[in-house]
Parts: sequence; C-alpha cells; structure tokens
Amino acid sequence: METLSWCPIRLYDNPMADMIATRIKKMIIAIDGPAGAGKSTVAQKLARRLDLGYLDTGAMYRALTLKALRSHDALDDEDGLASLASAMDLHMEYAFRRRPPFRMIMDGEDVTAAIRSREVSAHVSQVSSLPGVRKEMVKKQRSLVAAGGMVVEGRDVGTVVFPKADVKIFLTASMKERAGRRYREMRKDGYDISLQTIKQEMIRRDHKDSTRKHNPLVRAPDANLVDTTGESISRVVGKLIYLVKEQAAAGEAR
Ligand code: DC
Repeated sequence: METLSWCPIRLYDNPMADMIATRIKKMIIAIDGPAGAGKSTVAQKLARRLDLGYLDTGAMYRALTLKALRSHDALDDEDGLASLASAMDLHMEYAFRRRPPFRMIMDGEDVTAAIRSREVSAHVSQVSSLPGVRKEMVKKQRSLVAAGGMVVEGRDVGTVVFPKADVKIFLTASMKERAGRRYREMRKDGYDISLQTIKQEMIRRDHKDSTRKHNPLVRAPDANLVDTTGESISRVVGKLIYLVKEQAAAGEAR
C-alpha cells in the first residue's frame, strides 16, 4: 500500500473501539528505514501513544560492536562475533517518562551513550553484515517480542525478523534532511563534526546496509512508505496511528 495522505479519524468514537484497542495491544509494528529517517523518535512516540513496548534492534548491533571493539576482537571473525552475540546479556528498558526513554544495559553496564559513539557508528555496518551475527540477533529479537504488543525498529524487521508483522512502515527522508538531523543531534551531544563528514559517513553506511548479501535494508513489498521530509514529528506519528488503527479495524486478531 502506498503512503496514505493524512486525514483525521476518530475510530474510538464508534462501537468497534474496544475490539480495535484489544487488537492494537497484541500487534507487532515494524518500522524500517535508513539512518536519520526519524525511526527512533517516531517509533518511541508511537509506542507511547499506543501504550506498546519498544525495541531498537540497531542498538543491539551497536552493543555487540562496542563489546567487540573493547575486547579487540577481529570485526570480520564471524564465528567469534556470533558466539559473542550469543553470550552477551542484553537488557533493554523503555519508559517514556524517563530521559532517555530507551536504555541499553549490556552485561550489567548501562551503555546507552557508549553505543552512539562515532567509533561504534563507523564499525557497526561491518559487524551487522555477518550472517552468523544476524542469526543470533534475530533469535534474540524474536524472543524479546514473542508476546507482541511492540513497536520494533531496524532495517530488516518487516522483511526478515517479523515478515508477518501486523503493520509495516518504511520510513525515509531526503539525504539532505537525514544528514541535517544527524548533524544537529551530534552537535547537541558535543561532537565536533562537519555536516559534510556526516553526509559522507551516512552515504557509506546506507550503501553497506542496503547492498549487503544477508538481510539488506530493503522496503518490504507490503510496507507503507512514509517520507518524513519536511514533516513534523507529530504529523508523522499521526499518520502512523491512522495506519495502525485502520489495520486493526480491518485485520484479524492475532
Ligand atoms: O539504526 P542504527 O543506526 O542505530 O543502526 C545501527 C546499524 O545496525 C546500522 O548501520 C545497520 C544495522 N542494523 C541492521 O543491520 N539491522 C537492524 N535490524 C538494525 C540495524
């Protein structure tokens, strides 16, 4: 289905409201797309508005990359990194009232900030391209989301991890906008980096993520394409809520 233009709908005013709310509580909502498309902000707000859990699968690949960098493991040692992924204890918390709302605890340590470093960003595509690593991560992701009721963001959520997700969104934006957003974020976090460098790093990472052999970043044929260029966050979240409610009203209960 192509992008629907935004129009307000108040399904909770009609008699199907309870059934729709019950269905939404069990849904798996997959949000994929390239870096800087606004996935994390939008997915977290959507989870909050629908009272669902939230999982950032990119943060899991980042945590593994951090662990490998710290232990000086070779980043092309597929078996070694797959074992590291399997043994790694990941605990993720999402509580929208807290700052930051999403926290990643790896082997008992809060690595929420550390996994966003430039060093991790520069190497995570390499680590996440290894099929053995992806196999372990997909296993973990499926067990974390087994009960449903989650918004899950990443690159292959709607294609590989949950091909039967109730709602699939492919979020995108122009390169100019994506790089600009990442630039503002990084400057806010104190990184001294130019917009040009961010753009180059983003192009490199996009290329790696979408051309890798295993589970590349591609839009699932049944994913709703949502372009966030020039859109406010609340408008994008509104669009997604509309899509979710529409699906809940039309779909079978899981
Ligand atoms: O969304 P992010 O920038 O935090 O993701 C970090 C990296 O992890 C990104 O370069 C691609 C990879 N990734 C992946 O391969 N599969 C996912 N489901 C999520 C992220």
